[in-house]
Amino acid sequence: MAKEIYCHTIPARILHWINAANIGLLTTSGMYIRDPEVFALFANMDIARKTHFIAMYLIIYGILIRIYYSWVSRDYRELMFRPRDFREFPALFRYYLFIRKEPPESGKYNAGQKLLYNAWAVLVFLQAVTGFGLYFPDGLAAFVRMFGGPVVIRQLHFAITWVFIVSVALHVYLSFIGGWMVIKSMITGYLPEGVYMQPVADETERGNIGDF
Ligand code: HEM
Repeated sequence: MAKEIYCHTIPARILHWINAANIGLLTTSGMYIRDPEVFALFANMDIARKTHFIAMYLIIYGILIRIYYSWVSRDYRELMFRPRDFREFPALFRYYLFIRKEPPESGKYNAGQKLLYNAWAVLVFLQAVTGFGLYFPDGLAAFVRMFGGPVVIRQLHFAITWVFIVSVALHVYLSFIGGWMVIKSMITGYLPEGVYMQPVADETERGNIGDF
C-alpha cells in the first residue's frame, strides 16, 4: 500500500467543512430571498431569511478563525498568493488544458488554488459589507450612498454570489478530477505519497517566512 502523508490538520479540515456548509446555505437561501419562485429551495421566506442570518454570522467567524489559525499554524506560508505566483499561470493553464502532462512545480497549493482561496476571503468580506448595507439601509445610509444606493448594493451582493457559484463549482470539479483520494484527504487528513500535495510537516516545501 502507498505511504500516506498527513496533509490537512484537524482545525483546517473542520473549518473547511464549516465554511463550505455556510457558503452553501448562504447561496441557496440568498437565491430564495432573491426569487422564491425560481429558486424554490426553502419552505418559506421566514426560514430562508433565518438561515441566511445564522449562516452569515457563522461564515464571518469561520473566516476570521481560519485567518487566525493560518497565522498561528504558519500555514499562511503555503496558502498566501504572492505576485511572483503569477509566473506559474502559463504552465498551469497548459496543464489544465491538457497541453502539458505534469503540473508546474509549486508548493503545497498551486498558484490558482492560492488565488482562489485568498479571493474567497476578500469576497466574503465584500458580501458582509454589502449584506450589512442591505440590512441597515438607514443606519448605514451614508455608506450605502457611497456605493451608489441600495439598488447597486443589492446587485453587487447578487453578482458576488454568482462569482461564488462559479468558483465553488470549479473547485469541486477540480477536486473530483483530482480523484477520490483528494476528496478523502479533506476528511481523513491523509493523501497517498506522490499525489500533488505536499505534507504539512515538510518544512522544506514551505515558503520562507520572509520570502514574500
Ligand atoms: C457574509 C455576510 C453576509 C451578510 C451580512 C448578508 C446579508 C444579506 C441580507 C441582509 C440580505 C437581504 C435579506 C432579506 O432581504 O431578507 C441578503 C440577501 C442575499 N444574500 Fe447575503 N449576506 C452575506 C453573505 C452572503 C453570501 C456569502 C452569499 C452567497 C455566496 C449571499 C447571497 C445572497 C443573495 C443571493 C441574496 C438575495 C439578494 C437579492 O435579493 O438580490 N449572501 N444577504
